[in-house]
Amino acid sequence: MLLRRLGCALALASAAAACSSEEPGSSASSPPWWASDGSVLWLSRTGLYADIARGIVASDSVPFQPRFQLWSDGAEKQRWLRLPPGARIDNGDPDHWQLPPGALVFKEFAREGKRIETRVLARTGSGPRDYWLGAFLWNEEESDARFVPDGVQDARGTSHDVPSSKRCGTCHDGAPGRVLGLSAVQQPQLPAELLRRPAAPSPAPGTPETQAALGYLHANCAHCHNPRGSAFPDTDLDLRLLSRDVSPEATLAQRTTLQVPLQFFRRRGARWRVLGGAPEQSALLQRMSQPDPLIRMPPLGTERIDPAGVAAVRAWIESLAP
Ligand code: HEC
Ligand code: HEC
Repeated sequence: MLLRRLGCALALASAAAACSSEEPGSSASSPPWWASDGSVLWLSRTGLYADIARGIVASDSVPFQPRFQLWSDGAEKQRWLRLPPGARIDNGDPDHWQLPPGALVFKEFAREGKRIETRVLARTGSGPRDYWLGAFLWNEEESDARFVPDGVQDARGTSHDVPSSKRCGTCHDGAPGRVLGLSAVQQPQLPAELLRRPAAPSPAPGTPETQAALGYLHANCAHCHNPRGSAFPDTDLDLRLLSRDVSPEATLAQRTTLQVPLQFFRRRGARWRVLGGAPEQSALLQRMSQPDPLIRMPPLGTERIDPAGVAAVRAWIESLAP
């Protein structure tokens, strides 16, 4: 494992493709700044910042925002993308964008005015498993952040938990290209020269209220609830919104929930995933608004109920004719 890592790190310096891990049983490769000697890995080495202590990002770090965002207990988030010179994102499949080898995506979380962690997703080679994901915890001075493979509970005196590297895959492995906020539906508004094809407009279907609910379920639930997601072995619920969806009726989120009986998790009072016009009898809403953390959805990445998300999904269910 260690030898392979080292081999990958060296191979990356010359030819990224040499380190693809398509053969079964091999581990994914590592980014070039991976510390194979076990020393601490710092965010300042990734190139996101021109001057990290002063908070100045590099001129080629491109900020972006997905249209539909993941609720993280009210944390403020910023996201950036860095591609190697001349490289472009393959957006040929509008729902599954692929980063080019050498690409880096960053997501910073702040709570109570403190920078807490910055997550990094790196494309390390051209193979289907050549991704590296990990979180960096900011120091007290906010002059740099160090890699924390095991995550941190209640980081920097807040109630924010930094996830371990193992946890990243529970959500990010649900997309073949690992990125969850970069796709046609998410409309990240990137400069045209970063994409292989012009970005196709992909407005979500339905009224603004329906769009908000379907977008919310896509960004907060669909990474686990889709055929390659971590929840699919338990339930065939599929909450994705796809660029081809021309009407709310065509969406998987509606087709796999509306008047569909619960498959796996039954409690008194809710037999249906969604019962049109009846939010109180719809398990989807019940599990989002459940105080018990063992029952609440999503099961990861949040400790507080999202009032705006609950309101959007409630309004959508009310609008569905019984
Ligand atoms: C609970 C599910 C979940 C977990 C766990 C999770 N992420 Fe994410 N992540 C998302 C979603 C959904 C998005 C896109 C929506 C957004 O950014 O609001 C995202 C966005 C990102 C982005 C911006 C690029 C993109 O995919 O849009 C990075 C970088 C990232 N995550 C890294 C990580 C790393 C590293 C870990 C583990 C330390 C991790 N994430 C754990 C769900 C998760
Ligand atoms: C980190 C992965 C993950 C995320 C994100 C997630 N879920 Fe789940 N969900 C699961 C797993 C695993 C199960 C099966 C076990 C259980 O029922 O607790 C499940 C089951 C369910 C069920 C029961 C389905 C059935 O037919 O039995 C519903 C309803 C549900 N989730 C709704 C949601 C909603 C709504 C969201 C977003 C607000 C969401 N989930 C986000 C992992 C996830």
